[in-house]
Amino acid sequence: MKIGIVGLGYVGLPLAVAFAEAGQEVVGLDLDPAKVAALNGGRSYIEDVPDSALAPLGGRLRASSDYADLAPCEALIVCVPTPLTGSREPDLTYLLEAANSLAGILRRGQLVVLESTTYPGTTREQLSPILEVSGLTIGSDFFVAFSPERIDPGRTDYTIRTTPKLVGGMTAACTERARELYALVCDEVVVVSTPEAAELSKLLENVFRSVNIAFVNELAQLCDRLGIDVWEVIDAASTKPFGFMRFEPGPGMGGHCLPVDPFYLAFKAREQNFYPEFIELAGKVNQAQPAFCVERIERVLNQASKPVKGSKILLLGASYKSGSGDTRESPALTILRLLRALEADVSYHDPFVPELPEFGLASVDLERALPGADLAAIVTAHPGVDYAGVVATAAQTLDFRGVTRELDSERLELL
Ligand SMILES: NC(=O)c1ccc[n+]([C@@H]2O[C@H](COP(=O)([O-])OP(=O)(O)OC[C@H]3O[C@@H](n4cnc5c(N)ncnc54)[C@H](O)[C@@H]3O)[C@@H](O)[C@H]2O)c1
Repeated sequence: MKIGIVGLGYVGLPLAVAFAEAGQEVVGLDLDPAKVAALNGGRSYIEDVPDSALAPLGGRLRASSDYADLAPCEALIVCVPTPLTGSREPDLTYLLEAANSLAGILRRGQLVVLESTTYPGTTREQLSPILEVSGLTIGSDFFVAFSPERIDPGRTDYTIRTTPKLVGGMTAACTERARELYALVCDEVVVVSTPEAAELSKLLENVFRSVNIAFVNELAQLCDRLGIDVWEVIDAASTKPFGFMRFEPGPGMGGHCLPVDPFYLAFKAREQNFYPEFIELAGKVNQAQPAFCVERIERVLNQASKPVKGSKILLLGASYKSGSGDTRESPALTILRLLRALEADVSYHDPFVPELPEFGLASVDLERALPGADLAAIVTAHPGVDYAGVVATAAQTLDFRGVTRELDSERLELL
């Protein structure tokens, strides 16, 4: 098959590579000329796709920024961003732009699949009417479906092939086309009855995580008051083989999905005069977590008779998750901002994030920075960092990720 992928980011590029590895001819389309040039030069910019994965594709993956190059494709998969506006409402600008561009090249027999996370009704109410401006009819002339991406950057135990893929088409024929498409790269394709069911399933998956993370974050705050070790409690509860699922507290939620997607559902709910309490509460608790972490930093410094102002605080990890350089919505950046507002002397070490230009900072050398720091805070625990060494060297260590919970030191505190 000839397949077009629109938007070559964290979602689109691995998918494009998966189809090309399965022997399909792929045209990747992105408006960012740097990404197009990198891919055509055999260079990846996504950690999950090493350059070595591009070389063996033998020209089966070609990048372009011209929508006309998508015209010969039998299937077109849309993976553009779906962020929030400044007032925390769905921002469908990228999606609508991509839809308008696709309408200009659409032809009979093509399948268009939306993968971007969005509220239920987007495929039917937003994408489809734009595509139908072409004069073609969905279900007979061309086909439209929604299939949520389930990628988890950095994860290696589940791949695109081994993660079941949901599809919901506008008509039975649309669903069948989408099922055939994904069967090329996924072992299991799960069919649902409508695009809305597929759209909402994705939001359920993400809100489920957001609510449970908020719950353990709140538990961590309660344990702090009670003087109980939250990590010990979670380890203990996790020994129950049924009816419990482990979630861990941390410095707050980051990334493109979890802090953003619940607002898509809350927006749709409000249209129905329905105010979903769990979603809003989880957002509130998780957004407050970086401020709680800063309060903990203040307390640890206070015990050492040091004010935050002027103290040298070294943040370990700037990205939002382990093993990734993605800083979108990272709680580490909120902590950094709050500490700077208190006039702390903040630096950071993150092997995956060489620079934070918006803060005028570059990642410091850990061994050189640790001895001079008044406090080292483990915000994101990357693989390959010697945390026992950190605890042994730093004047004080505060661990928001629980990676040092097996260590015993008077100069160590955990969330
Ligand atoms: N990153 C994840 O882990 C993840 C997981 C599941 C779902 N999603 C969802 O997938 C979607 C894409 O996320 P992402 O993380 O890949 O975003 P991203 O920002 O990494 O990539 C999106 C790409 O789309 C390009 N783009 C924007 N407008 C375009 C247009 N009109 N035409 C062509 N290209 C355009 C951008 O240049 C960018 O390269 C979002 O809806 C997101 O919620 C992301």
